[in-house]
Amino acid sequence: MADATYERLERATAELEAPFAVVDLDALWANAEDLVRRAAPKPIRLASKSVRCRALQERVLARPGFVGTLAFTLPEALWLASHGAEDLVVAYPTADRQALRALAVLTAERPAVRVTVMVDSLEQLDLIDRALARAQSDRDAAVLRVCIDLDAGWWTLGGRVRIGAKRSPIHTPEQAAALARAILARGDLALVGIMSYEAQIAGLGDTPPGGRIGPSLRARAIRAMQALSARELAVRRAAAVAAVQQTIGESSSSSSSSSSSSSSSLEFVNGGGTGSLESTASEGAVTEVTAGSGLYGPGLFDAYRAFTPRPAALFALPVVRRPGSGVVTVLGGGYLASGPADRARLPRPHLPAGLRLDSQEGAGEVQTPLLGAVADTLAIGDRVYLRHAKAGELCERFSSLHLLEGERIVDEVPTYRGEGQCFL
Ligand SMILES: Cc1ncc(COP(=O)(O)O)c(C=O)c1O
Repeated sequence: MADATYERLERATAELEAPFAVVDLDALWANAEDLVRRAAPKPIRLASKSVRCRALQERVLARPGFVGTLAFTLPEALWLASHGAEDLVVAYPTADRQALRALAVLTAERPAVRVTVMVDSLEQLDLIDRALARAQSDRDAAVLRVCIDLDAGWWTLGGRVRIGAKRSPIHTPEQAAALARAILARGDLALVGIMSYEAQIAGLGDTPPGGRIGPSLRARAIRAMQALSARELAVRRAAAVAAVQQTIGESSSSSSSSSSSSSSSLEFVNGGGTGSLESTASEGAVTEVTAGSGLYGPGLFDAYRAFTPRPAALFALPVVRRPGSGVVTVLGGGYLASGPADRARLPRPHLPAGLRLDSQEGAGEVQTPLLGAVADTLAIGDRVYLRHAKAGELCERFSSLHLLEGERIVDEVPTYRGEGQCFL
């Protein structure tokens, strides 16, 4: 079965020179369908960092069930807007004054384009204000759309143990309401959304490697933590949304006669990621969920019980030498994923099945030895297909993606890098 897939890949890509990256569209669309099914009835905002290919992002966004982009930097969002995207939320705070000024100009000139920036502190509001003050000296006053990032971490033992990504300092509904008041008090900002990303659920597989006979201890601990965290977050997220809505309501009734920019309610409440679609989408307070990684199905997403994405994004490296029996060396390969520096961040040999990295050398800068009996069946010039541990980072290594459909390469599309863009 695996060998048939290898043979199919080799036939389809026979004309390409490795290294190259390939996306299996059959797998990608099956993955997209599964994400939509898991998120239903909530729409999915596409995490662009996990795709990093404009052509594929546009194709995904044209499918039912997907609405808008969760961008990773403001310059990226402005670039996507220059290519026609109209609904962009920048998921991480920006300190890029120039990009904020460009956003003010864009907002004044093309009001239909909705680019929303993320905030979680007064300091960020001040920075935005200062950037806008300069923009408005020679432009019409623009009202920037902002979204509050609510911490989705799980606090236990009275707050002494905090599980989750270290992101927003806004944790309680009261803190969210206070930040909402501060935003509404500024005439140049419109509060349009709340986002909270539960990394400890969405980005942490609940079947970590290691447990052969039933769930390992670690898997059991992760599952228990995730269940408790999801329960706590659902209550706190709903309370934070209600507190912010109430603040917006009070502000719009007290300033209804002024020229205030505030609308009377939030436009969206965003949450979750590929690994948490079911639980996040089931929350009444959440209006949309985010996903991206589940499309490419990278290595780290093999470790979830609720879903099994098909490996859609692969990269092929050529066999260039044979150090001895049971080992071949391929060119390149050291495409490590971001995050804590452990084995899980290494690329995974995928096809032909039965190859593994060398524990001394890992994946190398210019060459990677691969071990296993199957190595002896490979000739110099044959290709080995690997999977990146994460999704979009692969695209920082290749300038294009070759698109495979059935038995044929049907297209070649540029990655962000291939379009000369390097945002992070
Ligand atoms: C804010 C935010 N939302 C959602 C996600 C989930 O993205 P994915 O589905 O690609 O894991 C991430 C990933 O890091 C994120 O930072």
